[in-house]
Amino acid sequence: MKAERGLLFVAGVLGGLLLACTSDPPSNFGGAWAGSGNGSGGDGNVTTSGPLPETAADTFTQVVYGQLMTSCGSCHNRDVVGVGTPYFLDDVATDAYTLVKGLPGYVTDPATSRLILKPVHYGGQGPALSTEQKELVTAWLNQELTENPGGTGDPGTLTPLQELETFGQCMSFDDFVNLNVRALSDEQAIYQNNSVECDSCHDDGQSGTLISAEEVEFFEGTKLMPYILKFAAVTLNEDGTFKDIARSNRWVEKCVEEQLVGNPHPECQNGQIAEEVVNSINSYFDLTYERWAADECDLATQPPPPQ
Ligand code: HEC
Ligand code: HEC
Repeated sequence: MKAERGLLFVAGVLGGLLLACTSDPPSNFGGAWAGSGNGSGGDGNVTTSGPLPETAADTFTQVVYGQLMTSCGSCHNRDVVGVGTPYFLDDVATDAYTLVKGLPGYVTDPATSRLILKPVHYGGQGPALSTEQKELVTAWLNQELTENPGGTGDPGTLTPLQELETFGQCMSFDDFVNLNVRALSDEQAIYQNNSVECDSCHDDGQSGTLISAEEVEFFEGTKLMPYILKFAAVTLNEDGTFKDIARSNRWVEKCVEEQLVGNPHPECQNGQIAEEVVNSINSYFDLTYERWAADECDLATQPPPPQ
């Protein structure tokens, strides 16, 4: 079903593009974007009547919303998201408008908007906006800027949680593989007199901890809430604003800290995890941190798309 909708959508946008090329100069949307604003998510079809609505709010609810719901709604609709996925859409177009305007970094100068900058993600399942959609979103954002100069979202004011999510996006699959972070899943704990690997209890994210022998799953999960918390933590200034990101070290410390009396965590083999695994985890943090601090997260590599 999803795939079918995807195909329809591609056909719709291509149709709109052709029409735009033959009947309108590229900078004038000339109505190539009308339609899909009925709040149902639409099928991505575009028609050729009328210019963009007059207000930014109407442009969003009547035109942009349908495009975003079609391409991004399956994962970013507040009413359907799974654990850890950030949301900026809603079943109701006007609610989505309020939501997205309240998120830092989304309704900004088009050059810095996360909507526009977000590349293909989530192992290839999360698309980037198409060129045509980017043009549409740019036109809408420019309308927002004209209506409210300087007053739109500020990408410099991410919440601590969003900072952590951004940090997650700086993780690079190449680092994960080269450092063999997956080896953590082979570490062992003693359970009922047997040695059991960490992933036998944590491969589905049990107890908020994801440790899996499936490299891609482990990598992707570690980028997201809540699992990222076992790896990295935010530090705050006294006034509660974001300060920095530091190792949270939970994977390592779980094995060496004092256990809860009465309900202890199974004791780790040798009382600790192997030093080389600790080093891998720490190096993985350091490389991610460097990329994040240098604002070079676009250099992070992604896993190959699922077959
Ligand atoms: C199949 C699911 C899926 C689809 C479809 C999808 N995304 Fe995502 N998106 C995710 C997941 C999971 C995350 C969190 C991890 C990540 O960023 O890779 C995310 C994160 C994001 C973020 C927030 C993090 C950041 O870098 O600011 C933005 C923005 C985003 N996606 C934009 C989009 C846009 C725009 C579309 C549609 C063109 C889209 N996504 C479609 C799954 C999806
Ligand atoms: C037999 C099952 C089992 C095995 C094997 C196991 N765990 Fe756990 N783990 C649990 C349970 C149950 C909890 C929740 C209770 C707790 O926190 O002690 C947990 C919680 C955790 C937590 C999260 C809570 C926190 O304090 O942050 C971490 C981290 C963790 N385990 C790491 C590991 C590591 C590393 C290994 C391998 C060396 C491992 N676990 C092996 C059962 C297991």
